[in-house]
Amino acid sequence: MNAYDILYRKRQGACLTPEEIGFLIQGHLQGHVPDYQIAAWLMAVCLQGMDFDETLALTRQMRDSGQKLAWSVPGKITLDKHSTGGVGDKTTLVVIPALAACGVPVLKMSGRGLGHSGGTVDKLEAIPGFRTTLSVPEALAQVQRTGAVLIGQSAELAPADKKLYALRDVTATVDCIPLIASSIMSKKLASGAQRILLDVKVGNGGFLPAYEQAERLAQTCVAIGAAEGVATRAVLSRMDTPLGYAVGNALEVREAVQFLLNPRQAEPALRTLCLELIAQGLEMTGVVPDVPAGRMEAERALTSGAAAAKFAEIVATQGGPATCQDILDSLPQAPITHMVRAPLAGTVQQIDARAIGLLARDMGAGRIVKDDPIDLTAGITLSVTVQQTVRAGDPLATLHVRAQDQDHIAEFERRLLDACTIEQVGSAPASAPPDPVIAVLG
Ligand code: URA
Repeated sequence: MNAYDILYRKRQGACLTPEEIGFLIQGHLQGHVPDYQIAAWLMAVCLQGMDFDETLALTRQMRDSGQKLAWSVPGKITLDKHSTGGVGDKTTLVVIPALAACGVPVLKMSGRGLGHSGGTVDKLEAIPGFRTTLSVPEALAQVQRTGAVLIGQSAELAPADKKLYALRDVTATVDCIPLIASSIMSKKLASGAQRILLDVKVGNGGFLPAYEQAERLAQTCVAIGAAEGVATRAVLSRMDTPLGYAVGNALEVREAVQFLLNPRQAEPALRTLCLELIAQGLEMTGVVPDVPAGRMEAERALTSGAAAAKFAEIVATQGGPATCQDILDSLPQAPITHMVRAPLAGTVQQIDARAIGLLARDMGAGRIVKDDPIDLTAGITLSVTVQQTVRAGDPLATLHVRAQDQDHIAEFERRLLDACTIEQVGSAPASAPPDPVIAVLG
């Protein structure tokens, strides 16, 4: 077997055998198959696709390339949650403590933001003192003690995915469904939870703008989980508008903590999606008999303050402040704030998630390349949601600006206004905002 023949077969559209995929992945890890051959194979996969057996073989190879956690909590079913990423997506900060408060053990490893999309680890690092780099034994001990842990992706798990992702990032091969599915599921399967709950975003603020693509990704992940005996469910959720009001790291933590303290005041789409994810997680782990009962239990966990108390406990255990109020008081704030007002009266028809994500990135909240520094205070807080009616001069958003961007405020304001579509009063009646939950698979 040699890499050249395997690449040639893939280029011609053949389905590779598990042995051929293993030859490439293990050869790459051991240094026999160089970056340029893997890059060529990735491009061939993007152009020719991979069938399910190939996708499963790749997932297994990447899962088995590093440490595999085997952990359990007596009498409980463990769960992992993953979002394919979007703009303003702070659901993890609400959903994980709520699940843990209901008795579901969760070891959650998250990534960093890139491009227009944010990452949970960056958000958590906005909390002074919070440690996202616990070792695996420390993380496992915390799950047993506290019920949940929130950490960065361990380099010891699925190292082949890390190497492949770095190449995909520079070869225009990220947005390929079998590669995304195997990347996500290899890490989740290596983390060892008994159930996997995915939040697959649909819309221009996520990876996959079209529903059909997101559905295919969800179906592939669910089928990989089934093949490995780990029940996996995917919630397909809307990501054409930012989720919640805040976009930017410390701002999103603030919104999540305020949500936990006062769930009835939360932005409606964020609230609906969080309740759905909690409910699905509770049903999958047998805490409740069905999803409607899960929604009621989720409401109880939030409104009773149990989820807020659990979040504070997780944060304190990982080195941060001891209460939700202390977390709010400790979050860093940008030196400049600037209010953007509605230029005309009307209905907010659209808030373009991708445009807002790119604006937040350029304000310092995100990265263009992987190791760029970020400013945890920078970002945007929207004052409105879609289908809301505004008068001319009403607040649309607040820009949270770094000192060095003082001269760019007018440009940021123009980009914010361009991202918001307001239809004049009379031309389009306001209707209910769309449900953020589009479908549930698995
Ligand atoms: N998230 C991942 O973990 N991997 C991908 O390939 C894309 C999104």
